[in-house]
Amino acid sequence: MNKIDSLNIRQALQFALKQLSKNKILDPLFEAELLLSNILKKEREHILTYPNKKISQLQFKKFKTAVKQRVNNTPFAYISEYKYFYGLKFFINNNVLVPRPETEMMVEEALKYSIFNNQHSIFIDIGTGSGCIITAIVKNILDSGLENSNYTFIASDISSKALATAKKNAKLNKVNRFIKFYQGNLLHPIINIINKSKIENHKSQIIITANLPYLTPTQIKNSPSIQKEPHLALTAGSDGLKYYRILFKQINSIRYHLKAKCYQLPATQLILEIDHTQKTSITKLIKQELPKANFEIKKDLGGHYRLVIISIN
Ligand SMILES: C[S@@+](CC[C@H](N)C(=O)[O-])C[C@H]1O[C@@H](n2cnc3c(N)ncnc32)[C@H](O)[C@@H]1O
Repeated sequence: MNKIDSLNIRQALQFALKQLSKNKILDPLFEAELLLSNILKKEREHILTYPNKKISQLQFKKFKTAVKQRVNNTPFAYISEYKYFYGLKFFINNNVLVPRPETEMMVEEALKYSIFNNQHSIFIDIGTGSGCIITAIVKNILDSGLENSNYTFIASDISSKALATAKKNAKLNKVNRFIKFYQGNLLHPIINIINKSKIENHKSQIIITANLPYLTPTQIKNSPSIQKEPHLALTAGSDGLKYYRILFKQINSIRYHLKAKCYQLPATQLILEIDHTQKTSITKLIKQELPKANFEIKKDLGGHYRLVIISIN
């Protein structure tokens, strides 16, 4: 038996702690424990309770690879292939952004519109990525016992690989049959559905959640921790507002065409995530593109401006 065969949990953790600390990974011991528990397919508590338990050569080899990936700034979620969001488990791969805790605010806000006098609500999640936002919304609405025929749930993304992951997550959380997925540029693939879906004969509301890319190329260059995430999910032109600008124009165009057909214009709530530095620039953009809209910008739990809520009636 060689030296590596005889490693126990404590020794493996010490090895990882050294590597992770050397490379300035925050909370290295906690990360080492999580990485090892993922390899051993045991809870973290097991690792803490049995430090003298031996691990196999193969398990240590896998662990070393995982530590190396983490040292190279691969997000933990890409290594473990999962991330919890809004209390639900999501499969994660490098085709999608790793869901962030601050984005849970968006779900919380969207759910406030889930009760609408028993009339129809259309929830649309644009740039759905892993599908975390729409899946959490659907799951919570259905678990509250609300009648699903009062709702339409739609998700879109420009990336077919992201959409495949979003579909997988909807299935894992048993809500796939309630969500329609479309590929394309923002609202473009679903314009016809918005024009037709229950709007002709019923009073409806539309709730759009959009955590679109909002970083500038400079911000991305200066953030080593996000280098391994898809740039398609992060970068949005020199001011980071490229996609929100296009989205506002699409919304104006849809409302213009509905009005031309004398349809009742649905109340529309837009819930967007921004970078905390964009408060002034997004305010300017909303006033310019959606001058009749009411809006507010909320801070996240860290005290940073994060969520923009726009009401268009
Ligand atoms: C910041 S990520 C957010 C992912 C997910 N909604 C979340 O909160 O974790 C942005 C997503 O928008 C998608 N995206 C980028 N450009 C797009 C476009 N023009 N139309 C639709 N989706 C787009 C990306 O593929 C990515 O999945």
